[in-house]
Amino acid sequence: MVDTVAGERRSARWFGVPGRPGFLHRSWVRAEGFTPEVFDGRPVIGIANSASELTPCNSHLGRVAEAVKRGVWQAGGFPLEFPTMSLGESLMRPSAMLFRNLMAMEVEETLRANPLDGVVLLSGCDKTTPGMLLGAASVDLPAILVTGGPMLRGRWRGEDVGSGTDVWRLTEEHRAGRLSADELLEAETCMNRSNGHCMTMGTASTMACVAEALGMSLSGSAAIPAPDAGRLRVAQRAGQRIVEMVREDGPRPSAILTRRAFENAIRANAAIGGSTNAVIHLTAIAGRVGVALELEEFDRLSADVPLLVDLMPSGRFLMEDFYDAGGLPVVLAELVRAGLLDGEARTVEGGTIASQVERSRSWRPDVVRTVADPVQAAGSGTAVLRGNLCPDGAVLKISAASPDLLRHTGRAVVFDSIEEYLETIDREDVDISSSDVLVLRYSGPRGYPGMPEVGNLPLPARLLREGVTDMVRISDARMSGTGYGTVVLHVAPEAAAGGPLALVRTGDVVTLDATARVLRVEVGDEELASRRAAWTPFEPPSTRGWTRLYVDHVLQADKGCDLDFLVGSSGDAVPRENH
Ligand code: FES
Repeated sequence: MVDTVAGERRSARWFGVPGRPGFLHRSWVRAEGFTPEVFDGRPVIGIANSASELTPCNSHLGRVAEAVKRGVWQAGGFPLEFPTMSLGESLMRPSAMLFRNLMAMEVEETLRANPLDGVVLLSGCDKTTPGMLLGAASVDLPAILVTGGPMLRGRWRGEDVGSGTDVWRLTEEHRAGRLSADELLEAETCMNRSNGHCMTMGTASTMACVAEALGMSLSGSAAIPAPDAGRLRVAQRAGQRIVEMVREDGPRPSAILTRRAFENAIRANAAIGGSTNAVIHLTAIAGRVGVALELEEFDRLSADVPLLVDLMPSGRFLMEDFYDAGGLPVVLAELVRAGLLDGEARTVEGGTIASQVERSRSWRPDVVRTVADPVQAAGSGTAVLRGNLCPDGAVLKISAASPDLLRHTGRAVVFDSIEEYLETIDREDVDISSSDVLVLRYSGPRGYPGMPEVGNLPLPARLLREGVTDMVRISDARMSGTGYGTVVLHVAPEAAAGGPLALVRTGDVVTLDATARVLRVEVGDEELASRRAAWTPFEPPSTRGWTRLYVDHVLQADKGCDLDFLVGSSGDAVPRENH
């Protein structure tokens, strides 16, 4: 192990310089009550904390930060915790995703502007994990991500209830008249029993697993429940490890976030039945480190990976069960054994991913299955569709769809906003049948800034009462990772960017053939051209501030919805002295 002497570290450019600048930097930090030894050249470790009472999933991260600090002190580092922007999926409007890139910018600039040698990133709720990873990737300081962990399982009337997934199911039951308002309130009270993020395999759990598969988190950390003491132990270990990483000068994110790491993460996402949001986040993170991920790679790399994890929304169990089973290392070990994962990829722990997971085995074979006996056969991951409705692609999560709808032709019923849709669908005379294809547009990155998670449109109440449980739905929006159904998402280009989705009319015939990877509107090129000539270009809804910047610069879903000027990285170069 190489321990660089005081003065060589990045932080020494603040604390180790003579004269007025060093005096200023040290003196103000000492006002926090630190003794002078903290400036003896030891690694200065930032703890980026996204805790907020407005983000219930992250509200407990203060305790996690304290555990990280213990580890940093223990290993001879100097921890400095700082708050970051926080993104609460359940509260933020119009969508937490509108602010993912803002959080990433804030994390990036805070890391670069301060005397930090390494950082531990604390996240939890959906967008906070990619927000942290995007920012850290563009700075490239040694970094470890620690998530806050999933909530304990929800329990109601003797049964498990899963975040999000059962919200959709129970509210549909209520709309169909099979569940009273009192019963719904009772379920609401019983669903969220502890701190932590959603305990289904929604976007938060997916991104925690994806970060671990990328090698940016400690092995086995993703599934530890938020209230479990193991969560604090892993945080303490991260504190120790980041100090070692600074002393050893790495591995830095650029050495971990390689093409093989992204390919592993894509395969792991297929094996866990992860969220479609991972497609967007992984593409954006890859863009920060110069790895060009094409949409089709998600399909190609998932094609021979079976679904191994039986968790909602694709299956039956919850994250607590996944933890009991051994967590993500069991999945990664099974994929390595089957030749479906590159075991040589490096992680923050310094070794290869294969060496870290080789002794893992499933303690709950009902929850984490084997490649020989999977939950669903290979090919149930993310299908990437093309066709005259989505020339730049669209995605469909096969494991969450109804097999009988994967090849379907039906009449399009088109809506220009989610509000228009919700106002319409519960009318008794609504002209929608179960074989129709529901189309929602102007809900993409620019059209409804932030691309909200409204793609899994609730079904019309009349059809729910008739027992209909799924319909083909198509949109340029996203879907919650906890959602399910035969839902085509991320249609690109979006309607607001002039994509062909803008040209579809109610009554057109639409064909979905997930087997052939085709999404098509059965309208001739000539007719589409004449509709385009008559189309009024979309005017963005906002005129100032962050939303203006976002709308003007956001890339389409197939490019990860990053801002065009944020792609790439600027490194950790020390900014000029503030004289
Ligand atoms: Fe935060 Fe689901 S609302 S993870």
